[in-house]
Amino acid sequence: MEERNISQAVIRRLPRYYRYLGDLLENEVERISSNDLSKRMNVTASQIRQDLNNFGGFGQQGYGYNVKYLHTEIGKILGLDNTHNFVIIGAGNLGQALAKYVSFEKRGFIIKGLFDVNPRLEGMSIRGIPIRKMDELKNFIKDNNIEIAVLTIPKEKAVEVADMLVDTKIKGIWNFAHTDLKLPKHIIVENVHLSDSLMSLSYRIGHQGRKMPQD
Ligand code: NAI
Repeated sequence: MEERNISQAVIRRLPRYYRYLGDLLENEVERISSNDLSKRMNVTASQIRQDLNNFGGFGQQGYGYNVKYLHTEIGKILGLDNTHNFVIIGAGNLGQALAKYVSFEKRGFIIKGLFDVNPRLEGMSIRGIPIRKMDELKNFIKDNNIEIAVLTIPKEKAVEVADMLVDTKIKGIWNFAHTDLKLPKHIIVENVHLSDSLMSLSYRIGHQGRKMPQD
């Protein structure tokens, strides 16, 4: 499949396509037109066509998209045809909540380890995954082919821990700590701020009635 330089905006929309197509598959829908998909997703049909054309397009004029094929192909573009091992660093409230969430595994994200500095957490397990000491982290990453580190530690500690990860084989950091990490280019950082989403909700409550694109 031909792949051009894809904009971040398109990449950010792909998981949403993937999710909607997954729902359609669950409902045994085999084929869908860009118009129908557009109505369901509340994006314009031309946006959908444009987005998918970045990857060579998947539909046929007047015939629509084959849901299973499109779902599989978008999954491949997103790298979901491979499994990705990850560790969670910081086994507090958020780290434990993420470790309990089984749906990551359905997408191929496999939690291999939990790490924390707090000696009181030593010996505890979440879903059968033991919480380990930080001094075991580097070897664990090496021995378990870990690609992703999830940072659920206080923001004051995030830079120091991220710097330590630079010397490992980690390819990506899913950063929940509210601080920007400046790392070499080979480590991809994806920041998550749930409160941003909450603030957007607050804005929309305050501006109710105005139509917003891509709802
Ligand atoms: P918590 O205090 O329950 O857990 C933090 C854990 O990190 C503790 O178990 C602590 O022992 C451990 N820790 C501290 N320093 C460490 C280090 N150097 N190495 C390894 N582990 C270390 O806090 P909570 O509620 O789980 O939040 C964790 C982080 O996530 C905080 O920075 C918080 O602000 C952030 N957060 C971010 C959200 C987001 O949307 N991005 C949402 C909620 C929390």
